[in-house]
Amino acid sequence: MTKLFFIGDIVDEPGLTYLEAHLPALIEAHRPDFVIANAENLNTSDDACGMTAASLARLFALGVDAVTGGNHSWDGQQGRTVHDDPRVLRPLNYGKRAPGRGATIIEKDGVCLGVVNLISPEVCSLADHPLDVMEAQLSAWRGRVDLIVVDYHGESVMEKLIFAFAFDGHVAAVLGTHTHVQTADTRLLPCGTAYVTDVGMTGPGGGVQGYDAARFVRSAWERLPNAEPMRIAEGAVEFGAVLITCNDDGTAAAITRLSA
Ligand SMILES: [Fe+2]
Ligand SMILES: [Fe+2]
Repeated sequence: MTKLFFIGDIVDEPGLTYLEAHLPALIEAHRPDFVIANAENLNTSDDACGMTAASLARLFALGVDAVTGGNHSWDGQQGRTVHDDPRVLRPLNYGKRAPGRGATIIEKDGVCLGVVNLISPEVCSLADHPLDVMEAQLSAWRGRVDLIVVDYHGESVMEKLIFAFAFDGHVAAVLGTHTHVQTADTRLLPCGTAYVTDVGMTGPGGGVQGYDAARFVRSAWERLPNAEPMRIAEGAVEFGAVLITCNDDGTAAAITRLSA
């Protein structure tokens, strides 16, 4: 049995502070073998999405093994350099030349976990076809990994479900990110892949995706890009995370939501 934590889009200082307060106790209680988190909104220092070396260091200090990303993977002043860290993933299907990598193998106590980050072409129109890219990755990893978890960063429920069924039984989990909204559909597919349409954010509620709503509303009315600085929403932090228990054959036995 292998246990995984997956934490959804961490939004800035409130999300990171929440994890610093609660993740150690959750790790102590559940003893996960691997902890993966989506960090595309982690940036805490320069009025942008993305990540910084300092915020990543705080996250890794908590026991997070690797982070995934999405459309914000390259945002912020350090949007290129953060990808020098091999624990930082960006969408695999976003070409070969953008900084970073989209898949990695983490080995711990003799177990090799493959982590893949994909993005929907609906979110990034220049992305390559997720099914084709995943199929190639599976071929490349055949015999090299014990189990695989996929962060599928996208908006469409149907697209995520179709992808998950396409690889049902071939990966331990397909976990949706990007909308920042928790969906109530954690389930095991027929051949043993754990699925949830969106893990949901780990960030402040009360606004739009963890950010103050007024800026988005003004931009929508004006039909112009946001000109104001980003402001974090002021509601209580929502904790979007799941615990997946995996069988020795690389399929999942259970997926449940985590609460602190
Ligand atoms: Fe996000
Ligand atoms: Fe996103």
